[in-house]
Amino acid sequence: MRDTGIPSSRRPASDVASSIMDDRASSVSRASNISRAMSYASTAATTVSISGEISSQLHGGYHHPLARQWQAERQLTKDMLIYPIFVSDIDDEEVLIPSLPNQCRRGINRLIPFLEPLVHKGLKSVMLFGVPMKPGSKDALGTSADDPEGPVIKSIRLLRQRFPQLFICTDVCLCEYTTHGHCGILREDGTLNNQLSVDRISDVAMAYAAAGAHCVAPSDMNDGRIRAIKLKLIDQGISHKTLLMSYSAKFSGCLYGPFRDAAGSAPAFGDRRCYQLPPSGRGIARRAIVRDINEGADIIMVKPAGQFLDVISDAKDLGRDLPIAAYQVSGEFAMIHAGAKAGVFDLKSMAFESSESILRAGATIIVSYFTPEFLDWL
Ligand code: PBG
Ligand code: ZN
Repeated sequence: MRDTGIPSSRRPASDVASSIMDDRASSVSRASNISRAMSYASTAATTVSISGEISSQLHGGYHHPLARQWQAERQLTKDMLIYPIFVSDIDDEEVLIPSLPNQCRRGINRLIPFLEPLVHKGLKSVMLFGVPMKPGSKDALGTSADDPEGPVIKSIRLLRQRFPQLFICTDVCLCEYTTHGHCGILREDGTLNNQLSVDRISDVAMAYAAAGAHCVAPSDMNDGRIRAIKLKLIDQGISHKTLLMSYSAKFSGCLYGPFRDAAGSAPAFGDRRCYQLPPSGRGIARRAIVRDINEGADIIMVKPAGQFLDVISDAKDLGRDLPIAAYQVSGEFAMIHAGAKAGVFDLKSMAFESSESILRAGATIIVSYFTPEFLDWL
């Protein structure tokens, strides 16, 4: 049989069988075509004559592994990947998160030993999430988010020093740091105070950028925060060395559960539906994308990824001059692991298929918990 180009470890047994069948079938028909072609001119799709219909003949375009790769507009490469990591304020801890397979929450002392081998394998970028665990570290304003001795700012400094080539993104939000677990500052009635939230979130973004983060990525979904952050970065004279990546089309839903276990950021009451987008809202997502482009975002992100490929495609269309990122979120990652564990599919095959779909939709950057695996697989 011909080389399908897929390492057998990536190819489920059923696929191997069907490709053998295909090859047998096509070599049989090839042989009979030749004999038939010599005896009479056929109009059958697989036996075209020079005057026949040829638009049905596609196999030639992807019969070889290299030709199959050429069908993709873009290939997954290591530099497209951003790895999300959770850094707690308990310096020596390293705790597996049960709902987020193989992922840990780590204290700062565990960071370098964990990342060193990944950097050697080609890790290019991380996204930092701070997790305050110490009692009393949360309040209504999320004061600890930009604590100079907090896990995010300490990690930025450490990573800049130890891995000068590593591109450091920081998620900017308040939900990990507020007692109520919402992504902004609340009014008496429990609704978001957008103005105060934006003031606070832009201060946090500033602090991360000033500490050396290459990229600040606000995930709070308050209105107008991109403009506020951009203005503060300009005002502080650091906008030229800080990339502003907006979680623009961030949808509400049940796919963030494992993340909230990892980050301890589940809302104490209510939900996030008044600031995260309604999953059926394609139009509102387009408006959010356009708004954030106009407010000065350097990269637009769509999240979750797999259920919102149409929105990724819209983002590419609306933001044709910007890089588009997609976040394959904790729930998507956990689902893929669960499916593989249940024998529904092979983990590696699905990790590739899901990522390739995200690229096909228009993203060129993927925030992915599969990053360590891809560093081995690619
Ligand atoms: C913080 C934030 C969340 C995620 C990224 N930044 C959680 C949320 O909004 O509830 C989700 C990432 C994931 O699920 O992997 N606002
Ligand atoms: Zn949040």
